[in-house]
Formats: sequence, C-alpha cells, structure tokens
Amino acid sequence: MKIIKVSNSTEMAKTAGEMIAEKVRANPEIVLGLATGGTPIGTYQYLIEDHKENGTSYSKASSVNLDEYIGLPKTDPNSYYFFMKTNLFDHLDISPERTFIPDGTADDLEAECTNYEKRIAELGGVDLQLLGIGRNGHIAFNEPGTSFDSRTQIVSLAEETITDNARFFSSPEEVPTKAISMGIATILESKEIILLANGKSKAEALHSLIKGEVTEDFPASALQRHGNVTIIADEDALSLINDI
Ligand code: PGA
Repeated sequence: MKIIKVSNSTEMAKTAGEMIAEKVRANPEIVLGLATGGTPIGTYQYLIEDHKENGTSYSKASSVNLDEYIGLPKTDPNSYYFFMKTNLFDHLDISPERTFIPDGTADDLEAECTNYEKRIAELGGVDLQLLGIGRNGHIAFNEPGTSFDSRTQIVSLAEETITDNARFFSSPEEVPTKAISMGIATILESKEIILLANGKSKAEALHSLIKGEVTEDFPASALQRHGNVTIIADEDALSLINDI
C-alpha cells in the first residue's frame, strides 16, 4: 500500500481531488466508486471547483456508490442519494442516469443487491474506488466479521457505527440499523483504490490497517490483499505509525 501523509484535512482533500481529476481527464469514461460520510466532502468540493475552473468533464463518466441506508427515501437529507446529489452530482456535468446508488427503499431488497452487482459488472467494474474507514475498521458498511468473499448485501450496522453516524441525525434512534452495502469482494475488484482518513479518531484504525494482521474482524485489512491501494491521510490519522 502506498501511503501519502499530508498535514491536514484540507491537504488530504486537495491531494485526493487532484489524483481523481487527473484520472477522469485521462479516462473520460471512467467508472468511479464513490463514498459518503464526513471524510470525502472536501475532496468533492475540490472536484466541483476543478470542474468549474478547469473544465474537467464527467459527461462520459459513471459512478457507483458504496452503500445506502435501508428505509430512507431519496428526499431524506440523510439518505446517501441526497448526500451525493447535493455534495457532488448537482455541481458536475455527470449524467444522473449514470450515477448508481443502491435503492434502500426497494420492495425487493435482495433483488436490489443482486441487480447492483450486475450493474457494476455491466459497467466493466470500478476503475477508481474512493473509500473512508470506520473507527471499527469498516469499509462501506462492511462491519467487523463480514466475509472477505461478500458481495452487495443487506447488512446490520454496528453499534459503534450508529453512534458515529448519529451526529448527522437528530438522535441516535433515528439512525437506520440496516443498509445495503457493496461487499468486500466487490470492493477488492476495483482496479484502483484511494482510502482517505483524517483526525485522531481514525489513528487506531489506520494503525490496524497498515500494521495489523489480515482478518475479517477488521474489514479494511482486506485491502492489504489489493495491489493498488493509496492511503491519503493526515498527520493525526497517521500519528500511531512511526516509520513514515
Ligand atoms: P466518516 O465515515 O467519513 O464520516 O468518518 C467514514 C466511514 O464510516 O467509512
């Protein structure tokens, strides 16, 4: 894994944004794998600025998102559909028909998972996957104990994840307890992965990711088996790693 250490979250966003924009310019038909949460917001702001100032176009690009809460309609400000629309898609020239997010309100959620996998395959797989990391080592909503062979499926959120994500809701009780999440095997098929982390709260997780054993108890450790992962993290998130 390649590790890029930056001074703060602003630098993290700029470094990741530059890398992504460059890859979009080099391959306009790129399939981007996108993430939600607090971590990628600055990167999305960079991509929006770059689109406006430098004209990087997403008109031929596609995107697939990692996950979606079950039960939140698209109009709910906490749905990841709403997050992506307001934080990124509305500000780029990407075609809404080519942005894919699991539908957490589908009548048949199992079929939605199967179809999502098919959709990714039809697109030819993900070229560049952006990831955050949970304090418990989750990637997407793949919580500790998830099989490395997992495909897009219905998952239950860990208590720690519900607590962490409660900051976006009025109360912890409002956080959905289930989600549709791309699986670990699906994520590992991405041709290239960029993982972002900032802040002291992610230091232990990054230490386990970089130095720990590969185990399903720590989902992000699966990334050690991928040949093209770049971690872009700030000094706080890398504060427990002494040799970089
Ligand atoms: P965060 O979430 O960006 O809000 O910290 C990261 C994650 O859970 O993957």
